[in-house]
Amino acid sequence: MAETRTEPEGSTAASEGIRRLAINTGGGDAPGLNAVIRAAVLAASRRGWEIVGIENGYAGLFPDAPGDIVPLTPSDVRGITHLGGTILGSTNRGNPMDWPCQLSDGTIERRDRSQEVLAAFERLELDALIAIGGDGSLRIAARMASLGLPVVGVPKTIDNDLAATTVTFGFHTAAETATEAIGRLHSTAESHGRVFVVEVMGATAGWIALFSGVAGTADVILIPEIPYDIAKVCDKIMERERSGRRFSIVCVAEGAKPLGGEVTMKTVPSGSERQPRLGGIGDQLAQQIAERTGKETRALALGHLQRGGPPTAYDRLIALRFGAAAVRCVADREFGCMVALDPPHVLAVPLDDAVREVKTVPIDSDIIATARALGTSFGD
Ligand code: F6P
Repeated sequence: MAETRTEPEGSTAASEGIRRLAINTGGGDAPGLNAVIRAAVLAASRRGWEIVGIENGYAGLFPDAPGDIVPLTPSDVRGITHLGGTILGSTNRGNPMDWPCQLSDGTIERRDRSQEVLAAFERLELDALIAIGGDGSLRIAARMASLGLPVVGVPKTIDNDLAATTVTFGFHTAAETATEAIGRLHSTAESHGRVFVVEVMGATAGWIALFSGVAGTADVILIPEIPYDIAKVCDKIMERERSGRRFSIVCVAEGAKPLGGEVTMKTVPSGSERQPRLGGIGDQLAQQIAERTGKETRALALGHLQRGGPPTAYDRLIALRFGAAAVRCVADREFGCMVALDPPHVLAVPLDDAVREVKTVPIDSDIIATARALGTSFGD
């Protein structure tokens, strides 16, 4: 891993060829995207570069797709560090190598438009791209880098499932939102002696469920990494009942699955939607718990609430650091890389390494050991 330098901004021999920088945001939004954009724009403009934003991932480059190329000056990014979402717009259906084109008969045909991206960069005289995204968008960035696009990635996702960085920005805010929700549910659950199942995001990694479940003191935490046994979940609830605790909170990641079973899906891929949409495990569990324990059980899926709202101070700081570090990479012409946090440093790691594997929760994690020591059940 190369460490990105920390000296003050200024023109370096390597950066002399850089004049125009592009920034885009792809995939599901995450709190902190605007902070990255602001940091990158300020750091780049202090080097005398011109910066443009590509709206809606790569769509802004295509005349037939929604979005445009917009100038990003320091005044365009004034006062956005604390704002959720992205001023550039985003999409999780914007893979230029697998672009959904609607034909006149209404059917969808997939096309590879990567050469159009390269041509647009040449036409617009763009020298580099800072691509802010999660595993999907960074995989696209890695592919575009292999085709010759000078790109630096910035890791974003509330799921925190990117292996090459200690943390992604957006995760801390999402975990905070989920923790607050679990906290609020405690009083109503206790008043009614009910069981509440809180479904949080996390398709393949249970980071949000684990952090918010432990910090919010859920009684049962179910994550994709530990298949659960519904009988064990109910045992925990009934054990609490017998000890006079008539309410319980179950925190479940949307990608959790029963022993020998599958994830619960809300929709299967169709039309322009490539990925199955997870969801519904909370409702399913609530029904099973009610049937097995006889206890009144309610489910609540936090869904996109976890992606909205202002980033926490921690996420703002990481995002600002990532934005500034990405500009240093561009200045050094260190392309095909992603900035990553390796405390206390921000490093540049090869994009190919960054997207190689999903960072799941290690089963021997100290957080899991802590929760177990306090009596929390993982349904196993
Ligand atoms: O990658 C972040 C994430 O929030 C996942 O946890 C979730 O499954 C997915 O995005 C949902 O995305 P959308 O509903 O926006 O397609």
